[in-house]
Amino acid sequence: MQIPFAKPHFTGQEGALVAEVIASGWVSQGPKVREFEQAFAARVGAAEAVATTSCTTALQLALYVIGVGPGDEVIVPSLSFIATANSVWHCGATPVFADIDPDTYNLDPDAAERAITERTKAIMPVHQVGLPADMDRLLDLGERYAINVVEDAACAVGATYKGRPIGSLGPLACFSLHPRKVITTGEGGMITLNDPQVAGRLRKLRAHAMDVSDLARHSAKDVVIESYPERGWNSRMTDMQAQLGLCQLEELDWILERRRALAERYTRALTHIPSLVAPFEPDYALRTWQSYCVRVNGRSPIGRTELMRRLLRDGIPTRRGVMTIHQEPAYADVSVSLPHSEAAADDVIMLPLFPDMTEQQQDYVLERLVSHAVAVAA
Ligand SMILES: Cc1ncc(COP(=O)(O)O)c(C=O)c1O
Repeated sequence: MQIPFAKPHFTGQEGALVAEVIASGWVSQGPKVREFEQAFAARVGAAEAVATTSCTTALQLALYVIGVGPGDEVIVPSLSFIATANSVWHCGATPVFADIDPDTYNLDPDAAERAITERTKAIMPVHQVGLPADMDRLLDLGERYAINVVEDAACAVGATYKGRPIGSLGPLACFSLHPRKVITTGEGGMITLNDPQVAGRLRKLRAHAMDVSDLARHSAKDVVIESYPERGWNSRMTDMQAQLGLCQLEELDWILERRRALAERYTRALTHIPSLVAPFEPDYALRTWQSYCVRVNGRSPIGRTELMRRLLRDGIPTRRGVMTIHQEPAYADVSVSLPHSEAAADDVIMLPLFPDMTEQQQDYVLERLVSHAVAVAA
């Protein structure tokens, strides 16, 4: 059997609806992006949402809008996709890596506090693989030290923290709409916030800071001579993507439910495989299960990478757990020791999980896991 590692969920209706957008003649950022922003904001309990080309550009714009620039430091977990740190670098600032809580794999608020210096401009917690970080403590840290908090919520569309949706908690949260995430627009990102003035500035910054949007100019009754009060970027989403995003939002609850059911099924089965440790289940959060991360412990007859290799031979692709950015050549100039992050990067694998996965497919994964991680030991 050949199992996909991940696969976005589509109903089959999307193509016709995107074709309507194409037929309208408006394919770049326009009315559909606005509609998608409003629907997204409503879904995550934010007053405003600003669409972008990716979570990476969303993070970079969010950092820029709060004034992060050269000479500033931003505290980030190293255990994250490299985009987290790159977005800081895109602003000319320095990412400062802090360690994680080994249970949740999320930024440890105590470690973040220890990393604060007089140059710290922001803390960027990551809701890793869709599990909300300890936001009460991180927002409190931000308040006590007068530091901004920008959430990397790439994998957290639909997650809740103490009953409140991610996107409604902090001043700025950035989501990814890449196909490996919970919902997708092919590529895409979203910034959610409550301040309409900041949202207005972000909408300009994503379009070269032009003082009038394409939409407003096209519907103007008089000649519009645009102006550029500051410098900006092209981080515009297209209306075709936004239409796909609107379709995906309709499916979000079902997607979350399927992911949860499959994750719970994995967790139940893993109780019979002592060499594999199921993910920690906090009582304060509802996660998205964007990925299902398993820890390979010392009782496994084979190491993490060998287990991945054997599963791949069985037609089961897996992925290493979340990377550690400070251990990549791209950040070789950083010298820091982060024991919890490094151990998690060494020991964790991600198992296949996607909304349309069948129980038969999942049983096959579990059967092969038992064969390699239990029976081989005997
Ligand atoms: C934690 C995290 N942040 C940022 C990103 C970047 O998202 P995008 O591909 O939309 O730029 C990812 C994508 O994998 C991610 O996992």
